[in-house]
Amino acid sequence: MHPDLERVLFTEEQILARVRELGAQLSRDFAGRNPLFVCILKGAVLFMADLVKRIDIPMEMDFMATSSYGESSKSSGVVRILKDLDRGVEGRDVILVEDIVDSGLTLAHLRDLLYHRRAQSVTIVALFDKPEGRAVDIQPDYVGFQVPNEFIVGYGLDFAERYRNLPYVGVLKREVYARS
Ligand code: PRP
Ligand code: MN
Ligand code: MG
Repeated sequence: MHPDLERVLFTEEQILARVRELGAQLSRDFAGRNPLFVCILKGAVLFMADLVKRIDIPMEMDFMATSSYGESSKSSGVVRILKDLDRGVEGRDVILVEDIVDSGLTLAHLRDLLYHRRAQSVTIVALFDKPEGRAVDIQPDYVGFQVPNEFIVGYGLDFAERYRNLPYVGVLKREVYARS
């Protein structure tokens, strides 16, 4: 385990097993609809890569980059779009792929934006859900795991851009984020 972690919450094996289940479920639910999977960079990049390998129906991918946390451990409340989609979403069944829903601000903002652009449907898939963090009323349609109200990193999730590469997810020691 990385020395900056207090404990591991989900091992690589546990994560991949759950991702496989989500992939099978989405493949069944979106059969015949050619859904557009949108990865919300950077946090969702590992989840997206593992998830799409388990989709066995025709689908497309696109990428969007947003930032609300920056260098802080708290959301700024302002969602910045750093990279937009390459193509329009009018009439498409869009599946937003997120690593975590915390305050819900990122997804609420993106969902509204995609409906404004006339997506036919917007479905939210989040590997982790932290229900106690919510500031706006939004629920992901598919969730991998519920997580406690602690600062977690790994498998795409960062603190100040670090720890995204860990293949597992754990709780960051308080002293690590209290320092900055
Ligand atoms: C994190 C995470 C989600 C969002 C969740 O992204 O990846 O996108 O915050 O928080 P919220 O529900 O409170 O909006 P961040 O803005 O840190 O950018 P990153 O994905 O590049 O790390
Ligand atoms: Mn993110
Ligand atoms: Mg982040």
